[in-house]
Amino acid sequence: MEIIEAIHARHSTRAFKDTPVPVETLTDIVRDAQQTPSWGNSQSWQVAIATGATLERIKQGFADATQTGLTENADLSKVHRGDFSAFANQNMGHWVGTFHPIIESDPTTYWDSRGHLYRAPAIAYLLLDQSPNSWSIYDLGAFSETLMLAATGRGVQSLASYDW
Ligand SMILES: Cc1cc2nc3c(=O)[nH]c(=O)nc-3n(C[C@H](O)[C@H](O)[C@H](O)COP(=O)(O)O)c2cc1C
Repeated sequence: MEIIEAIHARHSTRAFKDTPVPVETLTDIVRDAQQTPSWGNSQSWQVAIATGATLERIKQGFADATQTGLTENADLSKVHRGDFSAFANQNMGHWVGTFHPIIESDPTTYWDSRGHLYRAPAIAYLLLDQSPNSWSIYDLGAFSETLMLAATGRGVQSLASYDW
């Protein structure tokens, strides 16, 4: 797939099929993403990919935590619409306005899928050192996009997701 085609074809998938992704494909995607530029070629990102029985345990733990209402404890704090510029706020409002009616027309499907980490057959955790600087976080975002474009190019759907 051409890069321009991949840029336009990538979109957030929020309910995955349970088709396993071969480990060779996952490795190729990570290798592709390693081409991402970084501050001083620091490449400070690390990737841990969970699949199979390990991922099942993670999903079960997540589902249990969601049901018991466990408090979020993500490394980057959650931000809300009010924390963004008026322009960004408008974009977010547009998104909520189009996305929410879809969720509300069939809430079980979305929330059930989300509660099970979208039933993804593989999850890539993007990691940084304990005290990352702003440029490492910038580079991680770039790495994340290259990773998702590489996945698209290799026929694998993706979703960037904030979870804890
Ligand atoms: C850092 C980041 C975190 C995100 N977290 C979530 C999430 O937790 N749940 C979700 O449904 N979408 C999440 N998204 C997906 C965005 O909502 C999505 O990219 C945006 O609506 C644009 O849609 P598209 O990716 O289909 O072009 C996240 C995206 C990014 C970049």
